[in-house]
Order: sequence, then structure tokens, then C-alpha cells
Amino acid sequence: MSQRTFSIIKPDAIRKGHAGAILADIEKAGFRIVAIKKLFISKPQAEGFYYVHKERPFFESLTTFMSSGPIVALVLEKENAIADLRRLMGATNPANAEEGTIRKKYAGSIEENAIHGSDGEETASFEIGYFFAGHELV
Ligand code: CMP
Repeated sequence: MSQRTFSIIKPDAIRKGHAGAILADIEKAGFRIVAIKKLFISKPQAEGFYYVHKERPFFESLTTFMSSGPIVALVLEKENAIADLRRLMGATNPANAEEGTIRKKYAGSIEENAIHGSDGEETASFEIGYFFAGHELV
């Protein structure tokens, strides 16, 4: 059955001019773009999005990075979208990411790692709702 997931092309990838290539990889992998927008999030908005990580040592630096420049927020749809996007993204640390994955190709570090993807169904529905209204999902 078709499933939706949420993704962000992060500020590092936008700064380096990789947004179009990443979108092409996503479409080539069979995802349908249900919603897309380029926007700038504030630090409090980044903190709200990553609240599950608020006790982690990298929280301060992660939320500063995520509000350091524009991002592209996406809702993507295909069968098995959540797991398939995570496979396409590669490991969180690009040093451990497999050849051909988005993070292997475009990410610079474990924090500035080019792309985010939801890690489960509940997270996907929270994250989609954080960025998009129902009428924007088409
Ligand atoms: P993401 O998939 O968006 O989920 C949480 C983010 O925190 C992750 O990608 C990285 O950008 C960042 N992150 C995870 N682990 C670390 C770490 N050990 N050090 C710095 N940043 C991290």
C-alpha cells in the first residue's frame, strides 16, 4: 500500500547547489512529490521539529544549522516510502553511507548530512503536519 513520508533537503545541500540533483534522485527512485516548499525556519521552529533530540549533546548545534539557511520541505509518496527513503538517503554519518546514496554523494558530515527523512509512521505524520496543511497535499 502506498505510504507517505516527510523529507527535508538541508541548508548545506541547498548552499552547495545540490537541491535539484537530490530531487532528481528522489523521483528516479519512484517517489511522487505530494508537496514541496522552500522556506527558512527560525531556531525555535527547528527546536520544535527536533524536540525528540532536545537532550542530545548536538541539539544546540543541529538547530542552529537547520535555521542557518533555506531548506526544502517535502512530502513523498510510494509503496514502503519511509524505509525506502531511508535506504536512498544512506547512513546518518556520510562516512558510513553506501555508494550511490544521497548522503554518500552530497553530505559533508554527520550533522550537515544533506537530507532528513522520517524514521517511522508516527514521526512522518507529526513531521508532515509540522510543515504542511492538509490542503497543500496534492
Ligand atoms: P536527521 O536524520 O535529520 O535526524 C537528526 C539529525 O541530527 C541528523 O539527521 C543529523 O543531522 C544530526 N545528528 C545526528 N547524530 C549526530 C551527531 N552524533 N552529531 C551531530 N549531529 C548529529
